[in-house]
Amino acid sequence: MSFLTIADTEADRLGRMVETGLEVKASPQDHRQALDGMSVGLFFQKQSLRTWVSCDIATIQLGAHPIVIRNDQTGLGSRETPADVGRVLGRYLDALGMRVFDHSDLTEIDAATAIPLINLLSDLEHPCQAVADMMTVADHLPLDEATITYVGDGNNVCHSLMLAAVKLGSAIRVVSPPGYEPDASVTEMASEIGDVTITSDLREGVAGTNVIYTDVWTSMGQEAEAELRRRHFAGYQITPALFEDADSEAIFMHCLPAHRGEEVSDEMMEHRRSMVFDQAENRLHSFKAVLLDELG
Ligand code: CP
Ligand code: NVA
Repeated sequence: MSFLTIADTEADRLGRMVETGLEVKASPQDHRQALDGMSVGLFFQKQSLRTWVSCDIATIQLGAHPIVIRNDQTGLGSRETPADVGRVLGRYLDALGMRVFDHSDLTEIDAATAIPLINLLSDLEHPCQAVADMMTVADHLPLDEATITYVGDGNNVCHSLMLAAVKLGSAIRVVSPPGYEPDASVTEMASEIGDVTITSDLREGVAGTNVIYTDVWTSMGQEAEAELRRRHFAGYQITPALFEDADSEAIFMHCLPAHRGEEVSDEMMEHRRSMVFDQAENRLHSFKAVLLDELG
């Protein structure tokens, strides 16, 4: 079964992925040959560091063979249709991960191919990131006792985090400047499941919270808006002074890459409660959990 969005993922399945991720992190040797002889494609239409390298290494450490496919060499949507790309790759691979601009390319490919398709980030969601994020929170406190505050753009990372949080029993607060809130459909779905607060008031959003999470103000593909966004997001930077308003045991999270000096200060990135590199490490373990869910 494909893994395109947290929205479409049952809470039980998501919970199992997080648990498996924590298990493989604790005992990586137990799964060394779990996917022996299989092949996993990793397709990138955008830049990547963590997703590319962690998914490649996770695949190897499960005994399968990864192949990274770059769009500048393959031409998704320009050299041939997304559906034809998917149909061809489905003849070679056991599973395919794809990072694309338009989420509709993923749904088109998923409909055309029989192999599981994994969203490695689209404009709508970043579900693999959310599995790693919930593992990171679970390392610090029970998920059903956690309040997670996301500060910044209501983007792909925010959408997956919101939905993963409520599906796993955490409360979620989103603090965005007016006009940059998450998609109404995501907020509506999350609110039907759990405890959701949407506000533009930073102090209200972080008061007593267990997690402060942020992402870049300008995502890949939005570079032309960077200067405008810097103006609109001014005042929403996460700093140690703001962090003082959170719970005394709170953690700071960021999916990375970070634009230091914009959404987060250098001091906050290096703060003793900053878990950003644990979170990046968890991308490795969580992708193993995703592959084991698909192919194990
Ligand atoms: N967090 C994340 O997806 O990082 P990359 O864009 O470097 O893969
Ligand atoms: N929101 C960011 C996340 C990068 C991992 C982007 O889409 O560029």
